[in-house]
Amino acid sequence: MKNLDEIIERRGTTAVKWNHLAEAFGCDEDALPLWVADMDFACADPILAALKERITHPVFGYEDGYDEAYTEAVTGWFKRQFDWELRREDLFFSPGVVPALGFLIDMLSEEGEGIIIQSPVYYPFAAKIRANHREVIDNPLICENGCYRMDFDDLAEKMRLSQVRGMILCNPHNPVGRVWSKAELKQVAAIAEANHKWIISDEIHCDLIRSGYQHTPLAKAYPKYREEIITCTAPSKTFNLAGLQNSNIIIHKEAYRKLWKKKVIDRFSISECNTFSRTATIAAYKDGEAWLREVNAYVDANFQYLSSFLKEHLPKAVLTPCEGTYLAWIDFRAYVSDAAELERIMRHEAKVILDEGSLFGENGNGYERINLACPQCILKDCLNRIAGALIRD
Ligand SMILES: Cc1ncc(COP(=O)(O)O)c(C=O)c1O
Repeated sequence: MKNLDEIIERRGTTAVKWNHLAEAFGCDEDALPLWVADMDFACADPILAALKERITHPVFGYEDGYDEAYTEAVTGWFKRQFDWELRREDLFFSPGVVPALGFLIDMLSEEGEGIIIQSPVYYPFAAKIRANHREVIDNPLICENGCYRMDFDDLAEKMRLSQVRGMILCNPHNPVGRVWSKAELKQVAAIAEANHKWIISDEIHCDLIRSGYQHTPLAKAYPKYREEIITCTAPSKTFNLAGLQNSNIIIHKEAYRKLWKKKVIDRFSISECNTFSRTATIAAYKDGEAWLREVNAYVDANFQYLSSFLKEHLPKAVLTPCEGTYLAWIDFRAYVSDAAELERIMRHEAKVILDEGSLFGENGNGYERINLACPQCILKDCLNRIAGALIRD
């Protein structure tokens, strides 16, 4: 088992989280980065062992990347974790969930049409909708005392709009950390069903669940409408393999599978993962569970630490309860009401790089997202820097 307290030097590698910070953020190069959602932990031993084993064979020619061993590892994982039965033929490769969002938006809507998102939400949702010349239709989440829920009346109203074709759901939700309940998921799907709209359910965070909570795949929560639900999954977030660029997109409806084949596979030959992502994915889904359990427990402890720290040192900060993901969402408006000023203080006085809340939508102004998938001493350093910058007396 890994020692998750170990600090692994990532500066000087090509890690986007740690490199070129001065260039990217206009801050000191030695600022502490807890922004982009990857982990500062070494990946699971079985994955490293499988990759090492693979390079002992010195030929890296064309491969059958999506064979039975691969699809069985993927479907086996979802069966064991969520009691969710998937058919082999429903799985499609994409070199990432964000690229898949682009493919799906193009496949399922026309230019000028609307797609619903629920802000504050992972910013590439809006970016991909706009880059594909579609309209972002926002159904903002409701926040009460730091706790978030969906506005179903508003969602129903937006779903009724004729220019709306569907929605992108974030389940679990980045950045507010909600693991949507079965009842909530059923309600979303029922509203989509009543209006004949599709749902892309981005479930990349499905395995990063805080103690006491359980993820439900949307298509499993509401199976009678699963043909109109496309689920985006990936081993990358779960097992810290983002650099290997692999994701599995689950499409139940034959017409949509045909469209994917035509628009993604036939046009661009994007059809299977590469030698290393295939090897790592099989090892992760077959033998990575013990490591994942340890990581989730460690993130739970980091969340506890963060919560106690804020109570003691920054009691006016509002921490959203985290049910899933390894991302904390904190409202700092009681300390600094202006979002740009808050960001300046974080980058240039505290010297920490976080994801500023405004990235996720206007309702994120004055919030910060902190990545807790790091050794606790890094988190402690980050929080001491923030408290030092916000409390001056
Ligand atoms: C909700 C969500 N979707 C997708 C991604 C990234 O997916 P990928 O790296 O597979 O493109 C992230 C990464 O943070 C995310 O939070």
